[in-house]
Amino acid sequence: MCGIIGYLGGREATPILMESLKRLEYRGYDSAGVAVLEEPRQGHATRTSVTKSEAKVDTLVEKLEANMPSGKLGIGHTRWATHGKPTYINAHPHTDCKGKIFVVHNGIIENFAELKAELEAEGHEFPSETDTEVVPHLIEKYYKGDFLAAVRAALKRIHGAYALAMFSSEDPELLVGARLNAPLVVGLGESEYYIASDITAIIPYTKRVLVLGEGEVAAVTPLGPEVSTLDGVTVKSKIVHVDWDVAQAQKGGYPHFMLKEIHESDEAVANAMRGRLSDDGAVSFREFDVSDEQLKSVKDVLLLGMGTSLHAAMIGEYVIEDWAGIPARAEDASEFRYRRPTVGKDTLDVVITQSGETADTLVALHQAKERGSLSVAVTNVIASSAARDADGAIYLHSGPEIGVASTKTLLAHTISLYLLALRLATVNGRVSLERRQELVESLRALPEQVRGILARDEEIRGLAEKYSKYGDFMYAGRGLGFPVALEGALKLKEISYVHAEGTSGGLLKHGPIALLDDQFPVVAICTASATKDKMVSNVHEMAARNAPVIALVTDGDHSLDGVATDLFVMPAVEEVSSVILDTVMLQLFAYHVAVKLGQNVDQPRNLAKSVTVE
Ligand code: F6R
Repeated sequence: MCGIIGYLGGREATPILMESLKRLEYRGYDSAGVAVLEEPRQGHATRTSVTKSEAKVDTLVEKLEANMPSGKLGIGHTRWATHGKPTYINAHPHTDCKGKIFVVHNGIIENFAELKAELEAEGHEFPSETDTEVVPHLIEKYYKGDFLAAVRAALKRIHGAYALAMFSSEDPELLVGARLNAPLVVGLGESEYYIASDITAIIPYTKRVLVLGEGEVAAVTPLGPEVSTLDGVTVKSKIVHVDWDVAQAQKGGYPHFMLKEIHESDEAVANAMRGRLSDDGAVSFREFDVSDEQLKSVKDVLLLGMGTSLHAAMIGEYVIEDWAGIPARAEDASEFRYRRPTVGKDTLDVVITQSGETADTLVALHQAKERGSLSVAVTNVIASSAARDADGAIYLHSGPEIGVASTKTLLAHTISLYLLALRLATVNGRVSLERRQELVESLRALPEQVRGILARDEEIRGLAEKYSKYGDFMYAGRGLGFPVALEGALKLKEISYVHAEGTSGGLLKHGPIALLDDQFPVVAICTASATKDKMVSNVHEMAARNAPVIALVTDGDHSLDGVATDLFVMPAVEEVSSVILDTVMLQLFAYHVAVKLGQNVDQPRNLAKSVTVE
């Protein structure tokens, strides 16, 4: 959703805000703005300079470069509109009637309409259509000379979700952050401090952060941050050390983050296994250190996620059932939260979320926890909400993912779920030592095999350019190929805006096949699997409707020669390895179609990297 940043220290705030906003832009990019408390000039009172743009951060940066505010305290925002269009007036920061209090916000204030009516009746004026604007006005209402006390009083009135960075021109040495149901970290530099939606914004400046808990407020002064509850009770926060480095958050010579991140897939796969697998296939997770006895008592597994992470959950569902023989089901977290879920003490609840902050996934996690199930978060972000709220965490260690479309982290999710399935299979005595070793060997070979696919980037680009003239695509697969097909379709549509749908090969005949003709190509996942022959029959059915077919086939398999329009030959590997290799190929295919169509692949329209509202 939106990205927020605040700075208080000895350096000029504006360049730091500009840099951080560029790094945060993947969270939202409709419009942007900063407020900087300017150094008082001789004979002048302190004043706050506000600069906004109704376009992306680059436009804001141009404006700031032309007219750079000078000051050591400031806040900035990049917006993903929820209430009100992305206009200049609706861009953050927002202020109170007197123009003294400045606020940037990520989240949704659910009771803003009633608060606004109350404040309007008291004479407050609201130029914007945003929900955020009630915050500075509420603070203004409660302000009696103590900014922090007024913030606390205001926040007690607010329902919904917020991560806020705020200051008042009356308190030039106080930057305040607060959170509820939206992420916020406080970065600790050398006599300088940051407030940010996520770590990516501030990694060039510090790797030491405090992660605020729900309902906590950080009051940052030149002496450092003090964290407390809304009732003013002091909280002792843990300092987290982040191992991401700056280079990972830069394009490193690639034209887009998405392409760079796809090219980091081999490392992502290797990192997800690192330190977790012994040679005989025994699996251990440092941050999900449960006993064999505890895992043995698991009678079913619930896997929750959204979007790409839901596709990872579906892959997990297949392998957990297959290897561990335990009933497993993947659920759309946004639907799960409104059902009467049948989970209990014997359920293992696995939440799959790259960001660790997806609102629906978090609520579903909390509900499952309330019912007493053991929970684990599979996530890329250390100390994210999911990691903190679940009983344990399996970290992806993929490094930051900046491209809005998930790529390398899906592969790391998939590997993590394979390892979890292997662990469950082992404690349940469902896998022989020999088979386990075989699987481990296959997994260990994957980084090299991924590099083999990445090296075929040009070949994939050629295919993508040939097919970029079509306005519709069907992706079809069976078994593990089904979530791969769903993901291939999602990747294509979200970054190229070309219509694409995913189906299982079996479902095709029950409706979707009606769409097919010579203008409706199909991408068919036909790599070796238990259901490969069925997919081959499905491809014959598609070709009979004149649909151009790109078939992903295993080296040496000639069953689709002369039937598919284009064959993309994959190495002969285990089916679970094919999932990874096929996915990388489809990510590159989607990327190249989108580039050919001239789309902004890193920041597709209407999307945001982290969906922290329902
Ligand atoms: C698609 C994509 C989204 C995310 C989804 C869940 O490329 O990135 O579908 O997968 O928003 O995000 P996380 O994994 O952060 O919970």
